[in-house]
Amino acid sequence: MRFPIEKFKTLRTPFYYYDTELLDETLSAIKAETDKHAGYHLHYAVKACANPKVLRHIIAAGMGADCVSGGEIEACLKAGFPADEIVFAGVGKCDWEIELGLKVGIQYFNVESIPELEVINEIACRMNKMAHVSFRINPNVDAHTHSNITTGLAENKFGIAMEDMEKIIKLADSLPNVTFVGLHFHIGSQILDMDNFIALCHRINELQDRLEAEGIKEVKNINVGGGLGIDYENPDGHPIPDFKKYFDTYSQHLKLRPGQHLHFELGRAVVGQCGNLMTRCLYVKQGSTKKFVIVDAGMTELIRPALYDAYHKVENLTSKAPTEIYDVVGPICESSDTFVKDYPMAETKRGDLLAIRSAGAYGEIMASQYNCRSIPQGYVSEDI
Ligand code: LLP
Repeated sequence: MRFPIEKFKTLRTPFYYYDTELLDETLSAIKAETDKHAGYHLHYAVKACANPKVLRHIIAAGMGADCVSGGEIEACLKAGFPADEIVFAGVGKCDWEIELGLKVGIQYFNVESIPELEVINEIACRMNKMAHVSFRINPNVDAHTHSNITTGLAENKFGIAMEDMEKIIKLADSLPNVTFVGLHFHIGSQILDMDNFIALCHRINELQDRLEAEGIKEVKNINVGGGLGIDYENPDGHPIPDFKKYFDTYSQHLKLRPGQHLHFELGRAVVGQCGNLMTRCLYVKQGSTKKFVIVDAGMTELIRPALYDAYHKVENLTSKAPTEIYDVVGPICESSDTFVKDYPMAETKRGDLLAIRSAGAYGEIMASQYNCRSIPQGYVSEDI
């Protein structure tokens, strides 16, 4: 990736920088693959990054949105997503969030429990609306990813247990203000081995057979969630994920019924590689056993290393000096405020500009104000 370093000189660090040329290329790559398959729809998972300038590019590419809160729905409407291209998931939807979804006319709710279905029906009845509902089924498929980001195992809080599926579909039929429109799944995030998605396809195939045997014929939509990972080790080698392999996996292994629509909710794969956290070196400190590069960004701007032990490549953009070994750490009063340990990087001095790479997904959006810090600014290429 090329960074407009000269133009960054006047900007106060830390900040997020999104390369929208790469974002647009990524969006085109997705579109080229989904266009090959009839009935494939993409709802961008807004939880990955809700920066309005980033959202605008995603809207221009013709994608819908996957939201998990009323706040996300509001952000999407404000950015310009059509309401009827929004789907809404989440294990704990509040009444006002359900009301908002009904009022603006979202495409469907991804319902996660029987009590939630009953509340949606009550609210829709009170508002004299019909709620379209899809059921999030917990497929009990192991995504073989970090334990904090697997969601499709029986022990996870997400979704409706397989054994309750027929029951909830029949219940929906008996409720006057809900219409059953599909099934929803999501097994986890940062998945690079297609075998995990193949396992999900097999599970869905079994389920569809079972439903047909039960006499439940009409399942309009299958939504397989998101989860496709990115190459954190080598962002320049693989700036765009292998979307062909991903979509081909579904087209080869998932037995869609005639006329059935297939929905995807990719987040990380869309925005992960185009975003970078830009930071400056404040001090280089020799500890008793280690050398520390102390930067002005911390876990408040990018929590993934502290929370998931996640690796993000760190690059010194201003030094061409030979490599030294550093721990790159932030200024927050927590030992876990460390980006990388024992890390080879060009010799660094105070004032050097560093890029923390592959931070477009779950970066800016997970920023916090801990230590009374400010939420970082997010710039896109066209701002600079
Ligand atoms: N759909 C549902 C229902 C989800 O729960 C998620 C992510 C997605 C779609 C999008 O998944 P993606 O394509 O981005 O993998 N903060 C964590 C990731 C949490 C993902 C939560 N759910 C991280 O920084 O790795």
